[in-house]
Amino acid sequence: MNLPSFLWLWKIAAWSMGFSILAYAILSLSGFWLWQVRNTGRSPIGVVLPRVNTIVKNFHYIIGLIMVSLVLLLLVIGIVGTLGHFRSLGHSSHLFAGLIVVVLVLISAFSATQISAGKFWARPLHLTLNMILFFGFAWVSLTGWSVVQKYLP
Ligand code: HEM
Ligand code: HEM
Repeated sequence: MNLPSFLWLWKIAAWSMGFSILAYAILSLSGFWLWQVRNTGRSPIGVVLPRVNTIVKNFHYIIGLIMVSLVLLLLVIGIVGTLGHFRSLGHSSHLFAGLIVVVLVLISAFSATQISAGKFWARPLHLTLNMILFFGFAWVSLTGWSVVQKYLP
């Protein structure tokens, strides 16, 4: 494949990453809401309305699933694009960064399903993984941005 036909693929990658980071920001805000209600009995708007809290919880869950889908899409784009171009993987630390982010996101989503199942380890695991994910996202974006330069005309 020639180079210009590849550029659109990395554009999708850049857009998906933008939406992933937006999703992350929304998740940290809605997650903070849930955390505050549980720990202080107050919500960021003061009172706790059970119905509003259920909405925030479902919203957090749906945005979480969207973020998981975006990261998996990025994984597929990265692997397909790299194989199509080089016929092999492992051309920079971006591969390692990408795999780390995928693993973090998947375990985080799994731990989220275990919070409602009442597992004591699920909540701290969910929080810790998501804090590490912040740096994972930064790493994968920076390395992704630098490998994209190779494809720019
Ligand atoms: C990977 C996708 C994600 C999914 C599917 C997800 C889902 C969930 C679920 C189901 C809960 C439990 C709500 C409850 O029953 O109390 C939860 C709690 C929480 N999540 Fe997420 N989440 C995701 C990502 C994130 C991210 C990226 C952050 C922060 C940057 C975050 C921060 C929180 C916080 C702070 C809580 C509340 C914990 C507490 O009550 O102490 N989540 N999440
Ligand atoms: C969660 C986010 C991401 C994941 C999981 C991911 C995953 C991957 C993987 C696994 C590869 C194969 C790397 C190799 O074998 O060397 C790859 C390649 C690539 N990715 Fe990503 N990626 C992500 C974000 C991005 C972003 C934000 C960009 C920039 C727009 C980007 C641009 C690229 C490019 C240009 C390649 C080709 C590598 C090369 O030419 O050396 N990726 N990605």
